[in-house]
Amino acid sequence: MKILVLGTGAREHALVRSLAADVQVSELHAAPGNPGIGADATLHAVDPLNGDAVAALATDLGVDLVVVGPEAPLVAGVADAVRAAGIACFGPSREAAALEGSKAFAKDVMAAAAVPTAMARVCTTTDQVAEALDSFGPPYVVKEDGLAAGKGVVVTTDRDEALAHGAACVAKPGGRVVVEEYLDGPEVSLFCLTDGSTVVPLAPAQDFKRALDGDAGPNTGGMGAYSPLDWAPAGLVEEVVQRVAQPTVDEMARRGIPFAGVLYVGLALTSRGLRVVEFNARFGDPETQVVLARLRTPLAGLLRAAATGTLGLVEPLRWSDDAAVTVVIASHGYPVSARTGDPITGIDEAERATGAQVLHAGTALVDGVLVSAGGRVLSVVGRGTDIEAARAMAYAAIDLIELPGSHHRTDIAASPSR
Ligand code: AMP
Ligand code: GLY
Repeated sequence: MKILVLGTGAREHALVRSLAADVQVSELHAAPGNPGIGADATLHAVDPLNGDAVAALATDLGVDLVVVGPEAPLVAGVADAVRAAGIACFGPSREAAALEGSKAFAKDVMAAAAVPTAMARVCTTTDQVAEALDSFGPPYVVKEDGLAAGKGVVVTTDRDEALAHGAACVAKPGGRVVVEEYLDGPEVSLFCLTDGSTVVPLAPAQDFKRALDGDAGPNTGGMGAYSPLDWAPAGLVEEVVQRVAQPTVDEMARRGIPFAGVLYVGLALTSRGLRVVEFNARFGDPETQVVLARLRTPLAGLLRAAATGTLGLVEPLRWSDDAAVTVVIASHGYPVSARTGDPITGIDEAERATGAQVLHAGTALVDGVLVSAGGRVLSVVGRGTDIEAARAMAYAAIDLIELPGSHHRTDIAASPSR
């Protein structure tokens, strides 16, 4: 099988490493990728947001499957363009990706499918925002409708701050904002592969979203993750499939906008039971790095089955009993203003000496020197017989990597987040 992967992050590096280990895969390509991905796949300088350019590249390369990593190409309709060229694509259509792209749409689908989620009101004026804030009470949760790379959500006990965020969102052209009930309890990410009718869950993981130790500081794209979750209630995965993923996939099919790809279910396990915090239409980063580190079933056939309506035929998934922990190394100033251009050294030694995987995210090669080129720079994955051993491997590797001014959390997987 020849495969083209779209994206530039550590999530895509993890996908490429898993695909490279699959004997069914004969050729791997990535666009645009990053220097780490370039060690496992042939890189192409094609804009992943340009559907026509991606379809043309996939056609020229004669690939059997395109795998879309990030949300932006999905929302831009890149999967539709690839399928229109007659090539299988792992990733939902533009219309179906609205499950991630519009929080108001996701809420509407959840209501129709009786999926448990936070009570919410969609507001288009500041007065409506104020009324909704007072009806739910603190802590306040205010979410911009639309893709905001994790920056559109404010969770605060400060009513003025909540109102100001809501007012700023509705002031934009066509601005809508979702005000919702606060959900207490730990969060879990569960990725559900689907071909539009069959749902196959992967293993749950937990992400550490805040920038600093102790879940302090601003929200980020994710500073680390681990799997499995030994504290999660037995039967959690089955419950999420039955009450969330399958009804959502069925409701999308009923509406004539089948959702195929991966439905990322972000959950809160509240004192009143599970609730959906968010849907995403793609794999999560950094959770993918730990989930794929534990998946024994070869990945290519699974992704192709999801892309071609044959997921019902796949064998039950096989998992390693090992635990996996990933810790993100972020650049100076991330997430407020990430500095770039700092030299990165020690990756090879870290991998060799510890057995950890060092996945690239925001890296670039400048005159043959590896430098930082984004906020999240590396995702270091440790494995072991338990979480403690996997953590130790990840942090031992980090000790051997130099990136001036960088920071990382020191408490990933030390205890559950929240
Ligand atoms: P979202 O963009 O919807 O994923 O929200 C980003 C983060 O904000 C989530 O991962 C949660 O940590 C937090 N969050 C979102 N919605 C809620 C809620 N209703 N209650 C508490 N925290 C929330
Ligand atoms: N780890 C959170 C996300 O991928 O959205």
